[in-house]
Amino acid sequence: MNILSKIKELPKAGVKLRSSLRTKYVIILGITTLVILSAVTIAVTLNVRTYYRSYFARITSEVFTDTDLQAALSACLSAESPPELMYDVLIAYSGKLGIDGERRTFFILDANGAIVLSNARDGNLVGKYDFQRRVIGPYTILLRDDRTLASEMAESITSITIKSGFVVIFVASVLFFGIAHAVTAPIEEMTRTAIKIAKGDYSDKVKVRSHDEIGRLGRAFNYMAKQLRLTIESLERSEEAQRVLIADVSHELKTPLTSVTAYAETMLTSEVPQEAQLEFLKIILSEARRMTRIIGRLLELSRFDSGKVALDVSYIDVNEVCQKAVSAIKIQLQKKEQQLKLSCAEVPKIKGDAERILQVILNLLSNASKYTPQGGKILMTTNYLPDTMQLQIAVRDNGDGISEVDLPHVFERFYRADKARTSENSSTGLGLSVTKEIVTLHGGDITAVSKPGKGSLFTVSLPVGEK
Ligand SMILES: Nc1ncnc2c1ncn2[C@@H]1O[C@H](COP(=O)(O)OP(=O)(O)OP(=O)(O)O)[C@@H](O)[C@H]1O
Ligand SMILES: [Mg+2]
Repeated sequence: MNILSKIKELPKAGVKLRSSLRTKYVIILGITTLVILSAVTIAVTLNVRTYYRSYFARITSEVFTDTDLQAALSACLSAESPPELMYDVLIAYSGKLGIDGERRTFFILDANGAIVLSNARDGNLVGKYDFQRRVIGPYTILLRDDRTLASEMAESITSITIKSGFVVIFVASVLFFGIAHAVTAPIEEMTRTAIKIAKGDYSDKVKVRSHDEIGRLGRAFNYMAKQLRLTIESLERSEEAQRVLIADVSHELKTPLTSVTAYAETMLTSEVPQEAQLEFLKIILSEARRMTRIIGRLLELSRFDSGKVALDVSYIDVNEVCQKAVSAIKIQLQKKEQQLKLSCAEVPKIKGDAERILQVILNLLSNASKYTPQGGKILMTTNYLPDTMQLQIAVRDNGDGISEVDLPHVFERFYRADKARTSENSSTGLGLSVTKEIVTLHGGDITAVSKPGKGSLFTVSLPVGEK
């Protein structure tokens, strides 16, 4: 299953609410808040109860052990009716003991445990009460505390907590939904854009609205999309270039092959005079040579393309190489009675492959000769530009020149400016392509300026002090 068909399985517009991150976040938040609220309510309720009871125990026992109260209660024993006096003493201490006659009351019991006196409205000694006890002579003082107050307080706290809990859950859910939306919206946008990209539509970009992690993710996403687009475009370009090249190669080889086949067939099938046979064979040989040249150059270019060309680098004297090229091209120039002048400036040695640089110069000189009429003039100069640390080799001719339309294409493979004129056997349209590859491999550059009918100037710039 390919990537595209997998992506098509994704939902078209967004994710269903039920399975969206937003809903999950809100559910998680709701559950978390409920758990926290329940825990807080239970803890508060228990604490209120415990605190209240321990408070009662602590305060009353402290006051009960108070020596003044102890002495006052003991002194009551010598009176005629001790319980009544004790009653008064306890009433006098009611503030300290928190006795209010409602929730907290006291009982004075006799030696048999019967209630003698009390400030309570009832006589209950069993139920939801806490007690503190003090024995004074034959009497027992019981301090009774009603536990329902603590329960009521705990209940009201629980109810407040639950009510406020619901408000908290509601507000937090709204907030969380908003936050979750802010987080998930860019992710959904990225998903939509990714699907578009997978379908080949690169027009959309993710809008980056923040500098946080999501913002950085958005920027990284856009960068990735851009790189992907560039890579695909370059792949498409090279695929297109390959298609064009195959078509060109086929076309270039078809013509000589047709002519070879035609001449050979004629010689085999019909009576051809010996003179004509010789002529035919010369044509066949020339076409075969042309094909060999094309194939040789194509092989060379393909080695450049795959980076398999290694330069045999040494320090070379470019003036010497130019001199060598002049000697090599001499015969071709003599045939057309053309003049070649070499003007060499003092130039530093450069690091390069002498054979390859010779090939560059010969290609330029050969073109200058080929595209300049009989008796034309060619000038080759060398020059050093200290500012840019570049060495320049320039080849100028006063030949046909190149039109404005053709000039930008002369370094392209199989490009020939004047098809009719260059269809002559010697022209493959690959010479300048190879020349440019060699110059580029040396870290240099080649340019061409020309005026039709006036001539052309090709300039090679090579770096000094580098490979
Ligand atoms: N000095 C020049 N003057 C005029 N036109 C030129 C000159 N040099 C190159 N050209 C044009 O540029 C084209 C490409 O040149 P290139 O050297 O790549 O191929 P070619 O000379 O046609 O064939 P070959 O592969 O045999 O060199 C030529 O066909 C020609 O039209
Ligand atoms: Mg050429």
